[in-house]
Amino acid sequence: MHPMLRKAIEASRLAGEAIRHYANQVQKLDVENKAHNDFVTKVDREAENIAIRLLQRAYPDHAFFGEETGKQGPDSDYEWVIDPLDGTTNFLYGIPQFSVSIALKYKGRLSVGVVYDPLRDETFAAARGEGATLNGRRIRVSERSSMQNALLGTGIPFRANQNLDLYLQTLKVLVPDTAGIRRPGSAALDLAYVASGRFDGFWEFGLNEWDIAAGVLLIQEAGGLISDMHGNNTHMSTGNVLAANPKVFKEMLKRLHPVMQKY
Ligand code: IPD
Ligand code: CA
Ligand code: CA
Repeated sequence: MHPMLRKAIEASRLAGEAIRHYANQVQKLDVENKAHNDFVTKVDREAENIAIRLLQRAYPDHAFFGEETGKQGPDSDYEWVIDPLDGTTNFLYGIPQFSVSIALKYKGRLSVGVVYDPLRDETFAAARGEGATLNGRRIRVSERSSMQNALLGTGIPFRANQNLDLYLQTLKVLVPDTAGIRRPGSAALDLAYVASGRFDGFWEFGLNEWDIAAGVLLIQEAGGLISDMHGNNTHMSTGNVLAANPKVFKEMLKRLHPVMQKY
């Protein structure tokens, strides 16, 4: 295994352990509102510190970009992108769906990615060119060949500045024929579910780099496709993400085209 992937897994598990510990005492946590409906707790910060400390000890020359602490460390070709707790709202409301997401970029290119679900003890991991795994076993995107009975994941906009009307139009064109739509609440895990074939596809607008960095590599290494809603390569910068197995991806893109033409 890629040694940096091994470290990333170790860091995500240690951070996940801290999250698990606090999951039983959520009522005691002080919750801050970063922005409208955007919560952060000391758990987010502690989990991030735990992950960064472990990685920094191993790689003192690397740079870090964490959701809670921003950019730190020296200028480096290596940059770790970390969402210490993806799904904070679920965590706070007692819904057992959240994750730790850790990715490594080398010269701007994703090279390692881990999404860890601390409650199910599921580790989704990928290294560029080496495939994707779930708890050490190889995973691939689903084999479904059309939207017929496809199960799709999504994120419904809830922030004030998001375009709910546009989202509702995409929902309207993507729902027909499917087996249904799920909104689990952790985008990193949603992407891991596409990579492992649990979801046939996924779309969401306005995500951040830390939500998706690990998931993007998982999808690519599991044989899936990922882009923005136009099929272009801007998903990392715009946070508008469409991901699926290649056949479902093509159909989703086709259905989205008339809606997205105006945007
Ligand atoms: C959130 C989750 C959620 C997505 C939000 C993200 P956070 O991350 O990924 O699924 O819909 O846009 O902000 O804030 O819990 O780390
Ligand atoms: Ca997140
Ligand atoms: Ca987070």
